[in-house]
Amino acid sequence: MSIGIKNAKELEAMRRAGRVVAEVLDILRSSVSAGMKTRELDAIAEREVRRRGARPSFKGYRGYPAAVCVSVNDEIVHGIPGERVLREGDIVSLDFGAIVDGYQGDAAITVGVGPVSQLAQGLMNATRESLMAGIAAARAGGRLGDVSSAVQRFAEARGFMVVREYTGHGIGREMHEEPLVPNFGDPGVGPELKSGMTLAIEPMLTAGLTKDGWRTKQGRDGWLVSTADGSLAAHFEHTVAITDGGAEILTRI
Ligand code: MF3
Ligand code: CO
Repeated sequence: MSIGIKNAKELEAMRRAGRVVAEVLDILRSSVSAGMKTRELDAIAEREVRRRGARPSFKGYRGYPAAVCVSVNDEIVHGIPGERVLREGDIVSLDFGAIVDGYQGDAAITVGVGPVSQLAQGLMNATRESLMAGIAAARAGGRLGDVSSAVQRFAEARGFMVVREYTGHGIGREMHEEPLVPNFGDPGVGPELKSGMTLAIEPMLTAGLTKDGWRTKQGRDGWLVSTADGSLAAHFEHTVAITDGGAEILTRI
């Protein structure tokens, strides 16, 4: 059996993990409100994942201390929830993973706190739609570069930039498996996509104030990743399974 190809039983476990991730993210989405602390979102995620008999995959991963990543405005990924208070107009990226019967699901959404600026709304829409463009390009018999280039072309056509220093990934028993899934590149290159492969596709887009507005910087806590130029960022992610009929979204809300 080729590396990374899941059998029917494994795919069933990943569907269950994906469903838990989708349900928890949906609850988090409707919980986001002005005045709340980001740590309250973590408490909700922890409670809801355990209520479903699953485990939060991020907690303890390389020492990460929380169940969910909460990244606000110019923060891109890996924000540790804490005392920060959400304000109207903020955009909040929520990244969450769960393990069911030894298999992983991983997904992310970005949501506005009340009404947000036109730029912020456009960035969120473009990021979500670039993910869907990538998923539409994920077909058995195609190449990984088809996915990467579909995301990049969509994002840049909307006037946004794609983060290059972080990527999506294969997923299964481990959160991070081969291959890396970049959000930029050329069609027709890279590994062949095969039925049974499971991938986490996760575009991170920035509003980019400068030509290299896709660049990132790391926070002092060793986790937080923000835009180097301070521009807004958004992040959407789904875990998908490649099938002969196209990609099946395992974390669809
Ligand atoms: N979705 C993120 C990823 O694919 C989750 C990792 S955050 C960590 O890398 F906290 F678990 F490290
Ligand atoms: Co991921």
